[in-house]
Amino acid sequence: MTYPGTYAATGLFVCFEGGEGSGKSTQSQLLRDWLEDAGHVVRLTHEPGDTAVGQELRRIVLSPETGDLDDRTEMLLYAADKAEHVETVVRPALDRGEVVITDRYVDSTLAYQGSGRGLGIDDVEPVARWATGDLRPHLTVLLDLEPAAGLDRFEGRDRIEGESLDFHRRVRAGFLVLADRDPAHYLVLDARLPVDEVAARVRDRVGSLLDGGYS
Ligand SMILES: Nc1ncnc2c1ncn2[C@@H]1O[C@H](COP(=O)(O)OP(=O)(O)OP(=O)(O)O)[C@@H](O)[C@H]1O
Ligand SMILES: [Mg+2]
Repeated sequence: MTYPGTYAATGLFVCFEGGEGSGKSTQSQLLRDWLEDAGHVVRLTHEPGDTAVGQELRRIVLSPETGDLDDRTEMLLYAADKAEHVETVVRPALDRGEVVITDRYVDSTLAYQGSGRGLGIDDVEPVARWATGDLRPHLTVLLDLEPAAGLDRFEGRDRIEGESLDFHRRVRAGFLVLADRDPAHYLVLDARLPVDEVAARVRDRVGSLLDGGYS
């Protein structure tokens, strides 16, 4: 089955993806600040958890207290979070013509549950696309980083961060497969670059999308 993807006709939809500690939150906030300074209305959001239901789902999925969770259960909890998030946060903001920046989206599920957990990207993709009505970001910024480097940027570990290095290496490879599949909608950056350098490259690409139109 192929998924052509649907793209919002009004607002710009940008997503940050990458492994643990790769700089997604840092860069999504810098992009938000830059766009707001330029006069854009921006909705910065994240998955999992940026809705009331999503916060409950996030707690279940990420809390070490949850213990073992069947891989399919984990996948479906993430999918439920995405359905709620797209329907109540992302689409309405895009329909209002806002710029939506999300810190993680469908690719995280494909990479973590599909590739990391071994459920298979091809098997989980229909579920994730169905959950999100196949709504795609105009641009996904993939912050690519060797997992050991990203995990070293933190001390505490949640359920997913605590997985093995092999797991995180499969996740990284999964993200890169997704970017290779659709290069027109991706910007892959070396997350070891200085914060300002990454931010400048993101601004270049987003600026040209805003100037030149996007689809
Ligand atoms: N380019 C960079 N070089 C060095 N350190 C960085 C860089 N970008 C971010 N950091 C630092 O790495 C840590 C993790 O960054 P950040 O929280 O933005 O990552 P993240 O991808 O959002 O992580 P998580 O997956 O846990 O949400 C922070 O302490 C941040 O200051
Ligand atoms: Mg973060």
